[in-house]
Amino acid sequence: MKVAVTGANSSVGQHLLARFAENSDVSVIAGVRSEKAAASLPRSPQIAARIISYDDVGELARTIAGASCIVHLAGILIESRASTYESANVAATVSVVEASQKAGVKHFVLISVLGASPDSPNRFLRSKGEAETAVMESGISSSIIRTPMLLGPGTAGAAALVGTAARGKAKLLGGGRNVLRPLDVDDLSDAILRVCQTQPEGVSVHELVGPESITYRALVARVAAMMEKPLTIGSIPLWIAKLGAAMTSRLSGGGISPTVIDVITSNEVVQKNADAEMGLSLTPLSRTLEKILTEKKQEI
Ligand SMILES: NC(=O)c1ccc[n+]([C@@H]2O[C@H](COP(=O)([O-])OP(=O)(O)OC[C@H]3O[C@@H](n4cnc5c(N)ncnc54)[C@H](OP(=O)(O)O)[C@@H]3O)[C@@H](O)[C@H]2O)c1
Repeated sequence: MKVAVTGANSSVGQHLLARFAENSDVSVIAGVRSEKAAASLPRSPQIAARIISYDDVGELARTIAGASCIVHLAGILIESRASTYESANVAATVSVVEASQKAGVKHFVLISVLGASPDSPNRFLRSKGEAETAVMESGISSSIIRTPMLLGPGTAGAAALVGTAARGKAKLLGGGRNVLRPLDVDDLSDAILRVCQTQPEGVSVHELVGPESITYRALVARVAAMMEKPLTIGSIPLWIAKLGAAMTSRLSGGGISPTVIDVITSNEVVQKNADAEMGLSLTPLSRTLEKILTEKKQEI
């Protein structure tokens, strides 16, 4: 099976490529935007790194030709002057959809986020919803996987969590009272591998979350305890955090904005977890946290 992956250097992409490389029947066209990103990819004879541009649909179609499935990972939560929600989340997805149509790709996998909707008042969630709509209306059979915070070595969520837990005194947004369902990034890789292999007909939307509900506050405290670090937890009122973020993000043209704060402090709730329908056995949260901390120890 030949699979094309966009945003292959993303944290999700790094884990996914490693998982694909364990399967001798999978070969991967790994799309990235720079030589530097290409150099960061796992080395395997099954992985062919390709520099892609989302502005040239024809060239993109030629690059992914021969793939039966495309996994579109490129996307951002934190904007910068160079990457906006419109360019990274919407326009890039539209380009990949058009290239996939031209190349005759049979199945499209989009990694989206819980709460994505074209009608959302939140700009990030709206952009992911618009990306979903582009995929749903493409006519290509597709699997859209909406995910919560992803945890695993190298994810932004893990870096923030360990950094906060190690601080001794942590001030959490809104006291960290929001409820999360963190998903192990390797479980997401398994889900992606499965839909690439089975390529179900039509459009499926899966809300896939981790096995345990936990407040961010309890999660930080648990990681601090596992690290044997004393921790005092305080609170930053959300309105103060958003006021500061509004000013700094306007000045810098990106970074943590009120939009980002609304996303990272929302409750991650699903009606029905997709693990059973996808045939997945989820990693316990304690095991995921152990993997993150083992990787951190190895870095020191
Ligand atoms: N991490 C999470 O907790 C989480 C949760 C829910 C959903 N997701 C989704 O999962 C996917 C991967 O997330 P991640 O956290 O692994 O990503 P990441 O590590 O932050 O990497 C972002 C990727 O998007 C690419 N990108 C940035 N701006 C772009 C633009 N304007 N046009 C095209 N590509 C652009 C980056 O390429 P360069 O390196 O070249 O900039 C990189 O490959 C994303 O779609 C994200 O929304 C992630």
